[in-house]
Amino acid sequence: PENVGILAMDVYFPASCVKQEELEEHDGASKGKYTIGLGQDRLAFCTDLEDVISMSLTVVQSLLEKYGIPPERIGRLEVGSETVIDKSKAIKTCLMQLFQECGNGDIEGVDSTNACYGGTAALQNSLNWVESTAWDGRFALVVAADSAVYAEGAARPTGGAGAVAMLIGPDAPLVMERSFSATHMAHVYDFYKPNLASEYPVVDGKLSQTCYLQALDSCYSRYCAKFEKRQGKPFTLSEQADFAIFHAPYNKLVQKSFARLVYNDFMRNSSFVEADVSSKLQPFADLSLAESLVNRDLEKVAQQVAKKQYDSKVAPSTLLPKELGNMYCASLYAGLATLLHTKTEMLDGKRLLMFSYGSGLASSLFSFKVCQGRTPYSVSQIAEKMSIAEKLDSRILVDPKTFVSTMHLMETRYGAKDFIPVSSQSTLRPGTFYLTQVDALYRRSYSRK
Ligand code: ACO
Repeated sequence: PENVGILAMDVYFPASCVKQEELEEHDGASKGKYTIGLGQDRLAFCTDLEDVISMSLTVVQSLLEKYGIPPERIGRLEVGSETVIDKSKAIKTCLMQLFQECGNGDIEGVDSTNACYGGTAALQNSLNWVESTAWDGRFALVVAADSAVYAEGAARPTGGAGAVAMLIGPDAPLVMERSFSATHMAHVYDFYKPNLASEYPVVDGKLSQTCYLQALDSCYSRYCAKFEKRQGKPFTLSEQADFAIFHAPYNKLVQKSFARLVYNDFMRNSSFVEADVSSKLQPFADLSLAESLVNRDLEKVAQQVAKKQYDSKVAPSTLLPKELGNMYCASLYAGLATLLHTKTEMLDGKRLLMFSYGSGLASSLFSFKVCQGRTPYSVSQIAEKMSIAEKLDSRILVDPKTFVSTMHLMETRYGAKDFIPVSSQSTLRPGTFYLTQVDALYRRSYSRK
């Protein structure tokens, strides 16, 4: 099979959301800290009617229906998530409910977990399968889904929730350039979930920011080396990357990341950046790598000189991450969905650079090439089917107090049995799966609105 990649996509996020501006005030943070400081607009969250399984059910069923894919045409289903509801039973097995009626039990794949990286692992597994001798001609389906919640404190405004489903197969409008894919993995304790009785992570915020940027550096230099080896010319952001999409814990880190890549280009060869950019970065040319990661002046100047390129290459993928917050595994792919939504007809032939980061840590930098002319799947079809604007418009804004009380309710629900959700179903859009009961044996039942 040739041109293996993404054929179709859908996105789901809970309708309930809170405004960062209001959360800021409620939390007693200084005005502008969450909106300008973190760069976030709103945060989406699940009530006790929804969880990572229901969001995954919703997004998979919706993709199959909208694109008219018969469930028996799926031969592999992979889920990437770090939202642990069960330490043994994969989310994937819960999704098999959707394939029972047609009698399709012949579907490989289970869940992949490592912080926000699981979706990327699931995508890689699916691409591998389609490209392998094991492939039987059917589609693979990748689900990246998470409910990101933090304990009260500095990290809470960086929560979020959402799910993305991607149909994988040959002759795709979004083809992964696999030979350039670069990876960096290491052992660090920047963000982890050792307390199995709590949904909240243990997080060293500052360390996680540095680890993210260091991983980006490593992946970028490996990606550039692979590109140059295969293509016989250097990779530079200004010449070779049309768009760049980042895993987005919050938008400010995305701004810093892109600026960091511009600084990388400058350090590789000052002629890789424009003359005025080069002259402004010159004072930082002699910094050691370690110094460059903590130098606040460099951070500021790099963001300034990268601004123009950021606006054209990065900003078009930031709407959903800014509106929904960190969706962990789904975050990077919600950025991709946003780009397809905002630049639909302008993507033909373009290269999209993607950076995936999962704390702990696992990270990859890879790229897609867009080919708009393939049938029956196309970027315009994906943009239309996802109906992102309608989904954003149909959200329900709640006040911070309600958000906080929902978080308290969810703390009592985590790991609990024998309950029926109490939240109002009026917050669910039609077609949404929701939890109806957790019985005395912790077995979960779902229904569809
Ligand atoms: N107006 C404008 N900007 C402000 C204001 C204000 N009133 N107040 C603060 N800021 C700026 C700060 O200057 C800072 O920006 P800068 O880094 O460009 O200087 C930004 O807002 C954040 O302020 P901090 O004081 O650095 O924030 P704090 O340390 O309280 O929390 C953090 C931020 C560490 C990101 C926290 O939210 C967190 O731990 N989140 C979870 C971890 C995370 O997302 N890590 C990223 C990678 S790992 C992953 O994906 C989970």
